[in-house]
This record gives sequence, structure tokens and C-alpha cells, in this order.
Amino acid sequence: MLRSHGGKPPEGVKYDFSVPLNPLGTPEVLVKLFEEAIRLKMYARYPDYEYNELRNAIAEFYDVKAENIVILNGAAEGINLALSCLKPELLIVFEPTFGDHRQLAYELRIPIISISYREYENRFELDLEAVENLAKHTKARALILFSNPNNPTGVYIELDAVKNVVKLFEKSIVIVDEAFVELCEDCSTALHIANDYENLLVLRSLTKTFAVPGLRLGFLYTNNEKVLNILDACRQPWNVNSIATYAFSKALMFRGSELKKFIESSKHIVATERNFMVKGFSELGIRVYESHAPYILLMHRECTAKEAIKALTTLGIYVRDASTFPYLTPYHVRVAVKLKEENIHLIEAYKVIGIR
Ligand SMILES: Cc1ncc(COP(=O)(O)O)c(C=O)c1O
Repeated sequence: MLRSHGGKPPEGVKYDFSVPLNPLGTPEVLVKLFEEAIRLKMYARYPDYEYNELRNAIAEFYDVKAENIVILNGAAEGINLALSCLKPELLIVFEPTFGDHRQLAYELRIPIISISYREYENRFELDLEAVENLAKHTKARALILFSNPNNPTGVYIELDAVKNVVKLFEKSIVIVDEAFVELCEDCSTALHIANDYENLLVLRSLTKTFAVPGLRLGFLYTNNEKVLNILDACRQPWNVNSIATYAFSKALMFRGSELKKFIESSKHIVATERNFMVKGFSELGIRVYESHAPYILLMHRECTAKEAIKALTTLGIYVRDASTFPYLTPYHVRVAVKLKEENIHLIEAYKVIGIR
């Protein structure tokens, strides 16, 4: 298998820090609507092929245009659709980053150019100079892909810099994967500038925000009608199941203010708990990278990720081996930000085992 993801904790793991999601879990409003959908036997029906109600609800909630939305079975589907259906001549990615784009590009015979984030002692940063140079020399019709905030480094690229990238590659398509943006207190979304740039596609995940990885929902937003039609034609029919469709259509349309409050509290908890974890790991002498996301990238100084995972799993804890990401090392791990009690548990386990 060429694919490599986190989220496969061994049996007996009680504290799974390998999957970053909203630490508050699924909001009650949604849970009730999922139950209602089951009671109404929504699973026995096909969802609306065009997802009109869901697109209207998303448009209302996020203050965007319904006709510019492509509904996705999670944000991950958007990356696959873009690569396989837009058929770019070149894929440019800012790495390390999330996704199976490498394997897919390889299968589709799309060449890749990877721009590595610049690494400093406690943070990564986009190498804008490298991006500018590449833009100057790129003649191909490229697809530029990056996540913001980035997984796994946690880097956030300011909106002005995003605009810069979009302008530099005006003959290409730029996809900003904002899967975690709603869980970041100091991040701005590119959703509301997407109407100004024909070559900008914004990818969003509700899976992370509302902690529903077993159901999955995402969407892609663009003002580019041609691109939108290609992606919509390319998606699998009924790509999102009827339970997610029912519950999210109702929740986003009619319970929007509750969900917005939930998101605000979530952002706040993520920021508070992340600070707590940064302090805890730093005190242990572990290298901690600045993050704007509900996870933190760590680099152990002595213990490899594999050694740490072996020891942590004996205590029922699992973290993400980040060595599989390009440019990272056998000493990198990514830990999700969870609730206080769990975070204390993780840091204490590091202490007890003596991971450094
Ligand atoms: C940056 C990024 N984008 C997209 C995804 C996938 O999101 P979804 O589960 O909505 O497909 C992930 C999952 O970890 C991710 O980290």
C-alpha cells in the first residue's frame, strides 16, 4: 500500500491523539438530527442528486453563493477531483502537507514540484521567494495546492500572502485547503475573496469542525463556472450520504446561531489547550513548532516516533508518526489538541516514559 494516513490506532488505545478533530466532539444539535434522520429512515432514500437544500444551507451559514458550491464527501474528495478532472500539466505543492496527491499524481502521470516550507527552530514558514521564482519559470497549466492552516506543521499563511500566490499563478488553478480554518482563532478564510479570483478554489471540511469523520462532509467553493461544472460533473452521483445531507441541511439552515457559538467556543478551547500543551512539551525539552491548528508538530530530540509510539501504546495512547510526511524526520510526531484531562494524560505519559 502506497497510502499512509494516521487514524489507525491499534486495539486497546483509549487516548487517540493521531486524529485531529474538534476536541468538543459532535454538537448535540447535529447528534439529534442524525438520530432523527435514522428514525425517518433517510438511509432508505437517495439524497438529492444536486444537493440543492444542502448547498443553500451552506451558502446561508458561510455567507457565500449557493451556485458556486460543489458538495464533497469530505475535503479529501476535492483534492482527488481536482487532480483527476482538471488534468493539470503540473502539480505544485507546498510540503510537508496532507493528502494522497503524490500517489494520485504519479498514477495520473502528472509531474510534481514540491516547495518545502522553510524550517526555523520553532516554526515553519512559507518560502515566498521560492514560490515567486517558480511562478516566473512556470509555463505549464499548473495546479497549486496547499493547506491553510497547514497539516502537519500548523503554519498559517495570511490572506494577503494567499492573494499573492493566487496572483502569481493567475494562469493556473490555486486550491487552498482550509480543512482546519474554523478551529483557528486567528485565521481568516479565503472563502470571501474567492469571488474576486477566477483561479482560486477554496476547499472546506465540515468533518473536522463538527467531528464527524464517520459521516464526512466538505465543499469546494469557486467563482469559476467552467471549473465548477467540470468538478460537479466529475463527482460521483450521490457522493454524500442522505443522513449527513439531512442533518447538515437542517442544522446549518435553522440552527446556525447555535452552531456558530459552538465554533467560537471550540476555537477558544483549541487555542487555550494548545498553549497548555506547547508549554508542557517545551518544558520536557521537546522541540515544538508554532501551530494555528488543533494539532501540534513535535520533534523529539532523542526518541524516534516509532519508539515513542511503541511505548505510548502500552499506556493506551496513540500519536501520529509524522515521519511519513516529505521533509520530516523519524523524530517527528503530530499530536492532536484535545481536552485538558486528556492533554495532561499525554504529557504525563511522556514524562513517565522519558520521551525526549
Ligand atoms: C489538510 C486536510 N485537508 C483535508 C482533510 C480531509 O478532510 P475530510 O475528512 O473532510 O475529507 C484532512 C484530514 O486530515 C486534512 O488534514
